[in-house]
Amino acid sequence: MFDIHYHLLFGLDDGPKTIEDSLKLAEASIAEGVTHIVCTPHANERFPFQPERNREKLALLNEQLGGRVTLGLGCDFHLSHENIEELKSNRTKYTINGTKYLLAELSDFGVPHSLSKTLDHLTRMGIVPIITHPERNPTLVADPSRIAEWIGFGCLIQITAGSLLGRFGKRAESMSHHLLRHGWVHFVASDAHSIDGRPPSMAPAHDVLKRRYGRETADRLSLHNPRAAFLGEALPDAASNSHGGKSRKAGLLDWVLRR
Ligand SMILES: [Fe+2]
Repeated sequence: MFDIHYHLLFGLDDGPKTIEDSLKLAEASIAEGVTHIVCTPHANERFPFQPERNREKLALLNEQLGGRVTLGLGCDFHLSHENIEELKSNRTKYTINGTKYLLAELSDFGVPHSLSKTLDHLTRMGIVPIITHPERNPTLVADPSRIAEWIGFGCLIQITAGSLLGRFGKRAESMSHHLLRHGWVHFVASDAHSIDGRPPSMAPAHDVLKRRYGRETADRLSLHNPRAAFLGEALPDAASNSHGGKSRKAGLLDWVLRR
């Protein structure tokens, strides 16, 4: 499996504090069958993003891990005005391994209407925003139509492995399945932070996906699509990554009726 959202680098953000903490996380992922990890430190007001420092930490981890897992570099990119301005002048600073794919983190405190315009602008710049964990955002849970709109102009969606295991509550879990049923999910990633509080858990999430949606879907979301993002390639099998055969309107109606 490929895990494209992971706070693995130590001493940078609210992820692991020491190299030993990072190594414990990496070992857990290796044991689960993860072969590639994108290290994605936060970039927000609290945690400044410093590419050189990130590369140094990554090199230290690589030394200890001896190639048993392949590490890449990206960013848990907060969609703030300052970050977006910086991105416009330095397109690859924050993207996954310098490709076109960018993890895009929303604020927990609401989703401004102007965000659609911003995301559209990013896609026109040739960036593919991957919206991280919308299932955990109360505004989007209340109104998932925004997600369908963003997918419509080229954004992709990542849900959290832990959400499928009920770790973020019932609403996040049921929202994850709503998105999955309608084919609105392109990636499952761990967003791991710590071995005790926020462990990776890609294998149990893959099991849930396999049981409920079949092996093909489980592999597409945790292996084939994230592999393409890691390498900067187009997502394979575009048809399976569309809206699961249902129209966006039908999906939204279903959501409204189920509430
Ligand atoms: Fe994150």
